Amino acid sequence: MKVLVTGGAGFIGSHLADALLANKHAVTVVDDLSTGRREFVPGGAEFIEADISTLKFVDITQRISPDVLCHLAAHISVSESARDPRGDAEMNICGSLNVLTAAQRAGVKRFINVSSGAVYSPHATLPYREAAATAPLSPYGVAKLAVEHYCQYFAQYRGLPTVTLRLGNVFGSRQNPLGEAGVIAIFLQRMLGGEPVEVHGSGAQAKDYIYVSDVVDAFVRLLDAELPAARDLTGSCYNVGTGDPRSVNEIFTLLAGMSNYRLAPAAGPARPADQKLVTLDCGRAHKVLGWKPQVKWEEGLRWTHEWFAANRGFFTG
Ligand SMILES: NC(=O)c1ccc[n+]([C@@H]2O[C@H](COP(=O)([O-])OP(=O)(O)OC[C@H]3O[C@@H](n4cnc5c(N)ncnc54)[C@H](O)[C@@H]3O)[C@@H](O)[C@H]2O)c1
Repeated sequence: MKVLVTGGAGFIGSHLADALLANKHAVTVVDDLSTGRREFVPGGAEFIEADISTLKFVDITQRISPDVLCHLAAHISVSESARDPRGDAEMNICGSLNVLTAAQRAGVKRFINVSSGAVYSPHATLPYREAAATAPLSPYGVAKLAVEHYCQYFAQYRGLPTVTLRLGNVFGSRQNPLGEAGVIAIFLQRMLGGEPVEVHGSGAQAKDYIYVSDVVDAFVRLLDAELPAARDLTGSCYNVGTGDPRSVNEIFTLLAGMSNYRLAPAAGPARPADQKLVTLDCGRAHKVLGWKPQVKWEEGLRWTHEWFAANRGFFTG
C-alpha cells in the first residue's frame, strides 16, 4: 500500500514509518521539521519538507495519491495551547482540516487520525471507554476533539473513510525531552545529565503510559482491518493504552534506579489542567483489531533508558 504519514519525522511518526517499511508498504513522510528530525526519517521513505496547512500539501497528496493517510503532525504542547489557543487551533484544527480536504480530493481509502485520552471528561468513569463523556481541560484537547468531529463529518458526508486512535501517554526512544510533554523522556534527559528533576504537584498523578511500538502496532493493524460501521463519533474511535496507570513518583524511582541518579526530586507546582488519574479501556481495539499491548512496563522503560543513555547530547536546548 502507499501510505502518507504527516509528522513522520517526529517521535511516533518516525517509528510508524519504520514499521510500515518493515511491512513492505511504500511510505511518504511530510513534515515541516518544526520539532521533528530529518535523521529520524528512515532511508527507505520518501521525505518531503512541507507544512500541512498549505496548498503545497494538497498538491503533494494529489500527486502521491496514497491509499492510507496517517495524520500525526501537530503541535503537542498542552501548556503552549493554553498560552495561545488561537495559534494551537490554527495548526491543530485548521491544519488538520487541510489534511482532511487533501485526503478527500486524492481519494484516500482510509484516513487514520491521531487523538488523545485528553479528550475525556475527568468526571467520566474510569477506565475511560470510547463512549465516555468528553470534556477536554486544555485547548490542545479541545482541538483534538474538534478534529475527531471533523473526521466523522468527512466520513458521513464527504465519502472519506476515517478512523481515530485515542492514545494514552506514549513513551520510547526519540521522544523529544526539551518540551513539557513526555515525562519519561524529560526525566531521563535530566537524570543522565546529572541535572535537577522537577516533580509537579504531589507526583501521585497517574497516567496510562504506552510504549511506542505498541502504538505503532495499532496503526499497522488499522491499515486494512475490517471495521464495523460507525454510526456516531465514538464508534470510529479506538483507545490505545494499557489500562494500567503509573504515577510520576513511580516513574521517578524506577528511572533514578536505572540511571544511578542520587538527587531527590525538586518540588514543582501542580500543573493546571493536569488530570489526577487517566486510564483507558482498550477492549474495543482488542476485539476489532486483535490488538493488545505487548511490551511490559519495565521493559519499555529499560529500552527507553538505553536509547537515551546511548544518545546523550542528541537533544540540546
Ligand atoms: N506523545 C504522546 O504521548 C501523544 C499522546 C496522544 C496523542 N499524540 C499525538 O500523536 C501525534 C504525534 O506526536 P509526537 O509525540 O510524535 O510529537 P512530535 O512533536 O514528535 O511529532 C509531531 C511532528 O509533527 C511535525 N509538525 C508539526 N507541525 C507541522 C506542520 N504544520 N506541518 C508538518 N509537520 C508538522 C513536527 O515537526 C513533528 O515531527 C500528535 O498528533 C500528538 O498530538 C501524542
